[in-house]
Amino acid sequence: MSFYSLGGTSSANFYVRQRGGGKPVLFIHGYPFDSSMWEPLFPFFPDSYRLIAPDLRGLGKSPLPQNTGLTNASISTMEMFADDMAALLDAMDVKEPVTFCGLSMGGYIAMHFAAKYPDRLSALILCGTKTAADLPNAAENRRKQAAGLRAGTMTLGNVADAMLPKLLSPATQSGNLPVVNAVRSMIESNNPQGAAAATLGMAQRTDTTEVLRQLNVPVAAIGGRDDLFVPPGEMQTLADTAKCGTFTEIADAGHLPPVEQPQQFAKAVTVLLGKVTG
Ligand code: MLT
Repeated sequence: MSFYSLGGTSSANFYVRQRGGGKPVLFIHGYPFDSSMWEPLFPFFPDSYRLIAPDLRGLGKSPLPQNTGLTNASISTMEMFADDMAALLDAMDVKEPVTFCGLSMGGYIAMHFAAKYPDRLSALILCGTKTAADLPNAAENRRKQAAGLRAGTMTLGNVADAMLPKLLSPATQSGNLPVVNAVRSMIESNNPQGAAAATLGMAQRTDTTEVLRQLNVPVAAIGGRDDLFVPPGEMQTLADTAKCGTFTEIADAGHLPPVEQPQQFAKAVTVLLGKVTG
């Protein structure tokens, strides 16, 4: 684990969890989470893969950049996150195309990365995500949440309270208290300003369905059977939209299969990695 600075005119600085060497696999977390959600997967991969899991700007241990005009009123767009990841891969000297694994908001970022940096992508893993933009009502709810987080009238504890009952499968909620507690603490320890910037970015993201349709790399859509945010049927549709897509459903998992069923999730990722040539 270490911090990478992008240098140059940017003060961007990213906290990154890493393991192994060899073919790069980039894991991008959802909202309002951080890279610790990928840690349970790492033991299931051989050292011949370079597993890279950064905290996105303003989330986890990565700060909001200081000298890029970002203030409390700023927005972390999906394009910015995707640009950050391309610059981070440069800073880490990762030149070969990566397998990009994005969960939920991480999937929105993956699609923007695919649109802008197609040559840097060897395969795509989408978990609990969608290519559609927000409906007006959903975007408005995000703006309210961002305003509350900024004003301090809403805390990430409130966000955790609202999300947790829907976030994890019944099996996790009743039988895996350590995971329930870890997820709560991951949400609550985030920076409210960074979370507000990210949720505003999600509110203004564009539809990327056409990008997925045109992609020429293997795509794995993975969904928790009990995901109430993105039901398995929607993930099946994503797989069907891609030219070379497959769908895997993970039993006894909700919106966070990597922490709820890490071995099953790692297995689905490994199947896709086996299809990556070169
Ligand atoms: C996530 O897990 O990243 C969120 O559910 C994404 C969203 O709010 O659309």
